[in-house]
Amino acid sequence: MVMEMTPHFSDDKVALKDALRRLRWLITGIEGSGIQHFHRQRTVLTPTPMPVEPSPKEDQPIGKGRGALLAEVREDLGDCRRCRLHAGRTNLVFGEGTPEAELVFVGEGPGFDEDRLGRPFVGRAGKLLDRMIQAIRLSREDVYICNVVKCRPPENRTPGADEMDACSPFLFRQIEAIRPRVICALGLCAAQALLGRAASMGGLRGRRFKWRGIPLICTYHPAYLLRNPVQKGAAWQDLVQVSRILNETNHKG
Ligand code: URA
Repeated sequence: MVMEMTPHFSDDKVALKDALRRLRWLITGIEGSGIQHFHRQRTVLTPTPMPVEPSPKEDQPIGKGRGALLAEVREDLGDCRRCRLHAGRTNLVFGEGTPEAELVFVGEGPGFDEDRLGRPFVGRAGKLLDRMIQAIRLSREDVYICNVVKCRPPENRTPGADEMDACSPFLFRQIEAIRPRVICALGLCAAQALLGRAASMGGLRGRRFKWRGIPLICTYHPAYLLRNPVQKGAAWQDLVQVSRILNETNHKG
């Protein structure tokens, strides 16, 4: 019995190692375009099955389209001065991507480049996020990217609870407008804003949460991954879960 099982187990281990190596290439940009070959490996190694949940797109409110709802949120945000972060901003960074996105990424808040350009994730961390998105065979145009706070915190510090409280109603409305099939929280700030409680990333990763009925996966922030590249393999596991949810719900039509 053991003899029969062994070859399958070691095949899986080899496939897993190979796929993780390829992901590292993709994310670090050291090597490797081969996304298609990589993707073939990815389907082989998809880990731990999780329960299938109903597709949130079925809950889409009838009436205004997602684009119109998003535009309304932007209009209500206006020239926001609801918290002290407005004082230091060059540009308010609302978010960008398609209102039809099936996947929404939520980051923490704009950094230097984002504040300058008024667009989310356009600096070094953004370049890594682009590669993470490509690794699951999507592009920036397929997803929606936004942050918990829309104005840059001074010196890129973590947003304060009062700043998150002032801004998160707009984040929630953005996500409600889109009603994606899955949300990916990038880092603790986003996870905490969406889950409404403090936790450690160790306690959040590898689990499927729900935000107002929408599956939520928490992973490391790309800026953290730039400082701790050893965690990129773990981030890949999280992205595999995201991709898996998208595939599950797609199969449901
Ligand atoms: N970090 C974030 O959390 N958001 C951005 O938009 C850029 C960097």
